[in-house]
Amino acid sequence: SLPVPNVQEMVRENPLRVPERYLRTKEEISESEPGYVNPMLPVLDLSLLVDGNAQELDKLDLACKDWGFFQVVNHGAATEVMNMMRAAAIEFFKLPLEEKNKFAMPANDIQGYGHTNVETKDQKLDWSDTLVLAVYPERFRRPQFWPSTPPHFKKAMETYANEIRTVGDKLIGSLATVMGLNKDAMLKLHGELVQGLRLNYYPSCVKPNDVYGISPHSDATIVSILMQDSDTDGLQIRHEGHWVPIKPIPGALIINLGDVVEFWTNGKYKSIEHRSMTNAKKWRISFATFIYPPDDIEIGPLALVVDPGRPHQKYKKMKYGEYLRFSLKRELEGKEHIKVAQ
Ligand code: SIN
Ligand code: FE2
Repeated sequence: SLPVPNVQEMVRENPLRVPERYLRTKEEISESEPGYVNPMLPVLDLSLLVDGNAQELDKLDLACKDWGFFQVVNHGAATEVMNMMRAAAIEFFKLPLEEKNKFAMPANDIQGYGHTNVETKDQKLDWSDTLVLAVYPERFRRPQFWPSTPPHFKKAMETYANEIRTVGDKLIGSLATVMGLNKDAMLKLHGELVQGLRLNYYPSCVKPNDVYGISPHSDATIVSILMQDSDTDGLQIRHEGHWVPIKPIPGALIINLGDVVEFWTNGKYKSIEHRSMTNAKKWRISFATFIYPPDDIEIGPLALVVDPGRPHQKYKKMKYGEYLRFSLKRELEGKEHIKVAQ
């Protein structure tokens, strides 16, 4: 990624200034539908899914087909741990820039405090700063990027990552069930799971309708697990041609299927485009956990989901690592790269 200004610092220096490089056209930012709100977003009970409750598994199947996004309750991640993570992150982002920059993301790296996906000098920028860290497997960790201030940050992050790993395992187990795979087949399919955490900090913006907090993209993951504030809006998902704002249920986690699940299921389950918007008066923080396979795993449609009557494979077979590198550079174009020409 190319070096770009720290957005939080820019806003601190002059809250009224929004440089040209962040401004999008009205056409680019089509507004979300007023009134088209999300109580419809499926809410699933993860403990029921884990128990193999048939009705809940049907709901999961529908949620994966129709939405690609859902919320989970009874997910088992301890409230105290979630709160500790949130508090530690808020403290981190409040530190002076100089202190945060001790953990700065170097050029050509994807871990650390900074900005990802900046490939050209004239590309439009997002109104956010992020801290990206690999957490599992442990050998992928790069301790130099783990904030040592506040002092309890590492512990909070470690504990949070561990709780969320369990949630991820449960989700992937339930996905296996609705995809018709047994545990061993699923394990073989994804290999040793990789887990990363991305903390997003969105400063307030005087022109919230003209900038993106994060521009539209789909996640190049198996699943992503989002912890959100329930009192500050921002996340929007593309559903049936509309941008739908998501309002998190307090204590729930928001789950989105990643591109890998879309490829495995030959498009039956969807990895949905989403974006995040900023607020005029309030900053916002969000926590995205990414769960994905190792680089050398082959991704592509599974034989058991390709309809024998119409055996059209929508996606090519490809090593995950190749797909990931492509997606990091071109965001939405990643999917085009793997699509089989019709
Ligand atoms: C994202 O990680 O795609 C956005 C999460 C969010 O801030 O809601
Ligand atoms: Fe995302």
